[in-house]
Amino acid sequence: MTLKNSINTDKIPSHIAIIMDGNGRWAKGKGKFRIFGHQNGVGAVREVSEACAEIGVKFLTLYAFSTENWSRPAAEVMALMELLVSTIRKETKTLMKNNIKLESIGNMDDLPEKCQRELKIAIEETKHNTRLTMILALSYSAKWDMINATKLIAQKVKNGELAIDEINDKTIDENLSTKNFPHPELMIRTSGEHRISNFLLWELAYSELYFTDKLWPDFNREDLYQAIINFQQRERRFGKTSEQVTS
Ligand code: IPE
Ligand code: IPE
Ligand code: MG
Repeated sequence: MTLKNSINTDKIPSHIAIIMDGNGRWAKGKGKFRIFGHQNGVGAVREVSEACAEIGVKFLTLYAFSTENWSRPAAEVMALMELLVSTIRKETKTLMKNNIKLESIGNMDDLPEKCQRELKIAIEETKHNTRLTMILALSYSAKWDMINATKLIAQKVKNGELAIDEINDKTIDENLSTKNFPHPELMIRTSGEHRISNFLLWELAYSELYFTDKLWPDFNREDLYQAIINFQQRERRFGKTSEQVTS
């Protein structure tokens, strides 16, 4: 029996979020520059998004560049932005073929003009696709998003559109850049690091976390299936007792 056949098709997570980590180490291990790792990470994105679309995942959020990543050496940041532009340009065809809709979260104003432009074109071109929504987190950090949400909420209170006592979970949800997407049921991080690195802090409150030592460019569809099978074996209790959730 193949790994894919072991997946329970009635329990596919509707939203998977991935911290695609380990590109630099992957390249270093091959005696190459870090950017070579980033370039090879694109293939993993293609494979994993296709696999998600095939098995019925509806949303895939990919952490591609964090707010903190701006502090990397300028040459690496520039190379990553160039790679982003060329990848979006080249991959739009594949997104269309696979019926995948592109979205983004993060502070787009920070990105070079060219990136913003390419991103907008691809988002516009793919907006009617329905099989899977792929959300690129670019110049994104959860704290940035929460600060933004706080400002939006404060403004509504100031304008008299919202009473302080009315602020609840839903208010926060509706003011984050992730407002149009359900919270991820499963979060995967590659490269053996066991941390969140400022990714979706609010939305991951009850997500199942899955860590693998595989470096991102080596992560393939079988690894994705493995993560989903592992997820399906877990009991999600949301604060309740085991008896409550199984009865
Ligand atoms: C993840 O790989 C990609 C980005 C953060 C842009 P890294 O570049 O962090 O690779 P490592 O962690 O240094 O190996
Ligand atoms: C997280 O990876 C960000 C992305 C994958 C885009 P990092 O490599 O930047 O995270 P840290 O620095 O190891 O926490
Ligand atoms: Mg890293």
